[in-house]
Amino acid sequence: PAKIRLRHLQQAKVEGRPFTMLTAYDQFSAQIFESAGIEVLLVGDSVGTTVLGHASTTASTHQDMLTFTGAVARSVTRPLVVADLAFGTYESGPADALRHGVELVRAGAEAVKLEGGAEIVPQVRALVDAGIPVVGHLGFTPQSVNSLSGHRVQGRGDAAAEKLVVDALALQGAGAAAVVLELVPAAVAEAVTEALEVPTIGIGAGPRCDGQVLVWQDMAGLSGFHGKFVKAFADLRGQLQAAAEQYRAEVGERRYPGPEHSFD
Ligand code: KIV
Ligand code: NA
Repeated sequence: PAKIRLRHLQQAKVEGRPFTMLTAYDQFSAQIFESAGIEVLLVGDSVGTTVLGHASTTASTHQDMLTFTGAVARSVTRPLVVADLAFGTYESGPADALRHGVELVRAGAEAVKLEGGAEIVPQVRALVDAGIPVVGHLGFTPQSVNSLSGHRVQGRGDAAAEKLVVDALALQGAGAAAVVLELVPAAVAEAVTEALEVPTIGIGAGPRCDGQVLVWQDMAGLSGFHGKFVKAFADLRGQLQAAAEQYRAEVGERRYPGPEHSFD
């Protein structure tokens, strides 16, 4: 199947075909998701909490994003590779956003994602004007976890829902090619999806978004994170634990390595 471009996501929205995005940070997972037909791979700043052992994505650095974006971009050809701009790399203004966005593209990103609404319109414009596609991120924005007082559903109530629509339209007006909606009531996410011409990609945002995204270790049951919006489609944690236990047992009983694993 052909290389996925942003226009394919746009086309999917128009035709009412939901598409999938998964996070990816390394070679093998990225290749498996490519084989599975996942259209978009997100090198999320969630790499900080899923791979690097941090408590918050605010700990993820620009260098982290460059390293893991490179790993994913070198490993796949078909999926669209989107990379997060790390916390602190774009808030100060368009020049900073552009400098870091350019480096992510050099590392292999085909689009960059940043969190925020109307307040980051100048950054979105600068990136888009430079030929760097932008994905927005509204609702619960993890880089603002401290000012949002934790992981909480956003956009509840008429005023907050209206602000979400206004912010989404502002991002689209600035040239954003898609908008992630995180932890938003399903009806509000549906309203944003209908208001926008560009696709929405939901996580904890109900079934009416144009696409869905999950952190892959949650999707595969590796993280053990069972938020309400998560479905674990496998039990990788259980399978990996069982494999490691069996390895340990067989070594302890001198059943592994056997003659077939040994050299004369
Ligand atoms: O970093 C990430 O994994 C994300 C997704 C949850 C959208 O931003
Ligand atoms: Na992120």
